[in-house]
Parts: sequence; C-alpha cells; structure tokens
Amino acid sequence: MAQTESEGSDVRLEGTLQASMARSAAIEQDLPAHPGNYRMLTGDRPTGELHIGHYFGSLLNRVRLQDTGVQTWVLIADYQVITDRDGVGPIRERVMSAVATYLAMGIDPARSTIFTHSAVPALNQLMLPFLSVVTDAELRRNPTVKSEMEDSGRPLSGLLLTYPVHQAADILFCKANVVPVGKDQLPHLEIARVIARRFDERYGRAVPDHPVFPSPEALLSAAPNILGTDGTKMSKSKGNTIEIGMDADQTAKLVKRAVTDSERHITYDPVNRPEVSNLVLLAALCLGRDPQDIADQIGDGGAGALKRMVTEALNETLAPVRARRTELMAAPDHLREVLRQGNERANERADATLAQVRQAMQMVY
Ligand code: TRP
Repeated sequence: MAQTESEGSDVRLEGTLQASMARSAAIEQDLPAHPGNYRMLTGDRPTGELHIGHYFGSLLNRVRLQDTGVQTWVLIADYQVITDRDGVGPIRERVMSAVATYLAMGIDPARSTIFTHSAVPALNQLMLPFLSVVTDAELRRNPTVKSEMEDSGRPLSGLLLTYPVHQAADILFCKANVVPVGKDQLPHLEIARVIARRFDERYGRAVPDHPVFPSPEALLSAAPNILGTDGTKMSKSKGNTIEIGMDADQTAKLVKRAVTDSERHITYDPVNRPEVSNLVLLAALCLGRDPQDIADQIGDGGAGALKRMVTEALNETLAPVRARRTELMAAPDHLREVLRQGNERANERADATLAQVRQAMQMVY
C-alpha cells in the first residue's frame, strides 16, 4: 500500500516536471522577442557566501535575463536563513557581501531591484491570507521541505514547514510571472500557483475580471550543476565550496585539494567519475569549450594537469568580478544605499499589492 502510494506520487512529480520543462522552454523561446511581458523574481538564502555553484548555476543566467530587458527583482531571503538553524549567523556581512557580488556581476540597480525580506512588512503580511488557503497535509508532503529537514538534523520548525508559503509571497507580492529555479524548487512554484488560484477563488478580485495574482512559472535554465570539491553537492556546511569572493591563491589551494580518483587518464564521465568530471566541466565552462574536448586534451596528463588548467581558467574567469567586488566591498555606504533604494521600491510594490488584497478581502475600512 505504502509502496503504491509513493510510486503514485513519483509518477505525479515526473509528470509535473515534464510539464514544467515544456512551459519553461516555451517561455525561454518567447523571452527575447517580448521581454516586456515578463517580470522575474529570483533570490538567494544568505546562509553563506555566494560560490561558483551560484556563479555558473544562477547568477550568470540572472544577468543574462536582466540584460534581455526582463524586469528583474533580486531577493536576499534573510528570513529563510532561520528556517532550519538556530541563529542568524553573521547575516549583515553576508547580505552586504551578496549585494557586492550581484553588482560586481552586472546586476544593475537602475534596472533591477535588490531587496531583503525583513525590510518589506507588506510582503510578510501576505503570509496570513496565503496560509489560510493551504492545508497542513499539502505543506507536509512537500519533498523539498522534507529533505531540508532531514539534512538539518533538527525537528521541523513552524517556519520550515511554511516557508514555501512565504516564498509564494516573495513571488506574488511583485506579481512576478517567471522564476528561474532549479528542479528542487518546483514544488514551491506549484504551491505559489495554487495559492494564486485559491486566493482568487476564495476571496475574489480587487478589479473585476482581473485576478489579484498572476500564475508564476519556473524557468528551468539549462545551467550546469557544479559539485563541491569533494564531488558531492556544493554546500557551505560541507566546506567544499569555492567562494566567488576568494582570492586566486585560496582558489588554487582548494582546487589542489579537490578529490579525484585513481585512474590517471582523464575522461568526461559524470555518472561514473563525478569528481574528475566536475573539474573537467568547470574548466569547460570557464573556457567556453566542450567538456569532452577538455578531457581529450588532458588525457594522460592526469589530475595534476587537469587541476592546473581548472585553477588558471577559474581564476581568469573570476578575476574581473573579484576586482569589482573588492572595490565595492570597500564602499559599504554605497552598498547600503543600493539596498535601501531596492527596499524602498519593494515596499512601494508590496504596499500596492497589499492594498489590492485588502480590497479583494473587503478589509478596507
Ligand atoms: N529558496 C531559494 C533558495 O534556497 C531562495 C528563495 C527565496 C527564492 N525566495 C525565493 C527563489 C523566491 C525563488 C523565488 O535558494
């Protein structure tokens, strides 16, 4: 019985994944022609420093979308930091460091809004009506929440259980219709769509014929998944990350220590040789070349030659971003001002949306 149930839900997830991938591909195709039709919200959880997994996996894509003319909102999700840990850590430093990295990479505060949860009260207030339209069972079966809880080794906090609803507020407060995410975030996008629809069904509309909230879609970029220097998922807590803000020597040291395997001949075989292939992929991404081609070139040169190539390619690729980051970090007043302005814009938008929500809910007194 339990077996059948879980098989059933796997089938459903598969179906959802395929449908999401198809919708995402259609949007990607339409984007360059009609960037004005899209508003993108993306964000990072400031639990650690941004690393090369973010660089190749999401940041480059964000800047690309901004530069096609898509309206861009970048959230530093500070309230998400406390979903699965006891304290906030050095959060001020991390938030400022993230702002510096965004700017260094080309997020342009004149066109894009960089903001934090904690500074936008009306966004957080959306959580109340949103919580009213989801059930306890729906929240509990979210596979991403489940795995985050297991990874944390802690009991499920009320916030971890409900953070996908809070994340729906992140997306819906600014009426974003596209959200670039990895597959792990698809269940959250589904909740956001369900909330948008149920809010409309249950509470009505501020303006006839116009639901208050659009239905947001995931943009599943073809971005590569970079592993940590030990060949497992890159994660601050495992100490296997290379941070964007590190210097060339630190990068060289970390690449040198990266795990490889005992076979000298280098091949690109992500399934059977994840550690070596991850290094090959990194070099390929930096150099804009095919991984297979990189592996062929190194061949019997072994892990040593591969690592030298990765170090050089990575340091060269990151050098301009690092240089701009260093300058920006030396101007904290400027970073604070960028964030202040972003938060101001986010508040304007959140206040306007909350006014429509109150209208729809007949709570205008
Ligand atoms: N949960 C996302 C992460 O872990 C960060 C995030 C917060 C986010 N709010 C969001 C992503 C809204 C997309 C949309 O990286």
